[in-house]
Amino acid sequence: MAGNITFTMIKPGAVKNGHIGAILNHINKGGFKIVAMKYVHLSPQMAGQFYAVHKERPFYGELVEFMSSGPIVAAVLQKDNAVEDFRTLIGATNPAEAAEGTVRKLYATSIGENAVHGSDSDENALIEANFHFSGTEMFA
Ligand code: CMP
Repeated sequence: MAGNITFTMIKPGAVKNGHIGAILNHINKGGFKIVAMKYVHLSPQMAGQFYAVHKERPFYGELVEFMSSGPIVAAVLQKDNAVEDFRTLIGATNPAEAAEGTVRKLYATSIGENAVHGSDSDENALIEANFHFSGTEMFA
């Protein structure tokens, strides 16, 4: 699977605002196959572990609190060039800088509450997919 998967989360804000269906529709229309998916409420410990790479950043506490504030949709997506193509589909981290028509431009409210997560490399996509899903929960 290496090289053609990415990992995403529809974050608590977008879930709360009723955007799960619309965001999944963008994902489908973008040509991604959903190979794993779950609806889950992360504990602060799990959210903190997932974002441990940002531990020293000033926004880490806020990020962990937000990501554990309500349920998320976690999914593994398959497509050629998945990481880069998904980052194009969702737009810049800061929705104020995201291109028109991208998921973050349409559904994010701020840089902290930016609707969706997308892996930043093939290596991290595998790490993040394996963090949330066991082998029997992925159907590539
Ligand atoms: P994500 O792609 O999930 O990866 C790390 C997250 O940290 C990012 O999306 C943002 O939601 C969040 N983040 C990055 N920069 C900032 C910032 N300056 N202030 C608050 N949150 C941020």
